[in-house]
Amino acid sequence: MPGPLRRRPRRLALLAPLAALSLTVAACGGSLSEDGGDGDGSDTVKIGLALPASGVYEPLGVDMTRGFELYLDQHDGKLGGKDVKIVKGDEGEGPDTGVPAVQKLVTQDRVSALVGIVNSATALGVKDIVSQAKVPLIVANAGADEVADGQPYVWRTSFTNGGVGEALGGEVAKELGKESVYVMAADYAAGHESVEGFKKSFQAAGGKIAGESFTPFGTTTDWQPFLSKAQNSGAKAVYVFYAGGEAVNFVKQYNAFGLHDKIQLYGAGFLTEGGVLAAQGDAAEGVRTSLHYSNLLDTPENKEFVEAYTAAYDGEQPTVYSVQAYDAAAVLDKALAEADGTSGEDIAKALDGVGEIDSPRGTWSFDENHNPDQPYFLREVQAVEGGFGNAVLNQLN
Ligand code: PHB
Repeated sequence: MPGPLRRRPRRLALLAPLAALSLTVAACGGSLSEDGGDGDGSDTVKIGLALPASGVYEPLGVDMTRGFELYLDQHDGKLGGKDVKIVKGDEGEGPDTGVPAVQKLVTQDRVSALVGIVNSATALGVKDIVSQAKVPLIVANAGADEVADGQPYVWRTSFTNGGVGEALGGEVAKELGKESVYVMAADYAAGHESVEGFKKSFQAAGGKIAGESFTPFGTTTDWQPFLSKAQNSGAKAVYVFYAGGEAVNFVKQYNAFGLHDKIQLYGAGFLTEGGVLAAQGDAAEGVRTSLHYSNLLDTPENKEFVEAYTAAYDGEQPTVYSVQAYDAAAVLDKALAEADGTSGEDIAKALDGVGEIDSPRGTWSFDENHNPDQPYFLREVQAVEGGFGNAVLNQLN
């Protein structure tokens, strides 16, 4: 049985921002060419950015926009040597807003490729639309397994929800010995797959599940009834999937309910990622998660990225969301450099050959289902200079 919530954490220094590097980031359409670019052979390519500008996932959309625009700014506003025109659509909280936003980008704005999509339910709602229109979609977050599988026009620079959960299950079984875990998640595709992935490797390693709750997505404000069930189940740990605004409320209520010091909290890393961690404060201290990135990752590539990002965005730290969108730009850069033209079909053909991507998270490549084959890290929330951070304890795979 681990006791990280009770341990006095090591103090880690946040990576120092590089004051010398000053980057200006072009606003949408600003310094970028206003020419066409929907496959007409011109030197401009039109890219649709479909990200939440409203709802519980709005802050994720901000991080992703920043990541994408930072890459562009570092490459003279070009991808594959072509000027880029960005057209933005608001994904909102889910498919009701996200599907029409993508439809407009495809049919009215006639973009050559799309980047974005945070919510798995939205991704599931648009995958057939983009495939029928032959417009490649680089999913830069949504993790539902089925999104990319067997879809010739969908690639993903993020993760699968099952994969993030599965990365952690064996580790938790090792830490807990014979004790059981209660699982809890947002009641939609992402939450269910995250829990399934966790259970798969946890149970394979001999772990026992004490019970489970799925909470209404986007409308749950009071977790007390679910936390009571977890407490009464006798579990010695809880595994959850929550992100964005829900992650803030859940972690704060877990603490307020008195479970912070009693039942170790684990989760998919979105639980404590970026802005949500700042809002959770010491309620999150000691929470352990799996994820394919932390801004505290101690590699030269990541340090360089963090320095550039903080310099460009007034000291704001990058998140996994920023990196996923930054890498989406890197993927399109490589594909457009090789593509015969700027039509969706040309870009899709070239996407099959992009090979390895050198990313702040480490080097990764697409697997046969167009998902990233990448490292996952065990992280723990620890006090760092100026607040809290996700210290990287070790690599999980
Ligand atoms: C998802 O819906 O797949 C999703 C949303 C937010 C996250 C992670 C996954 O942070």
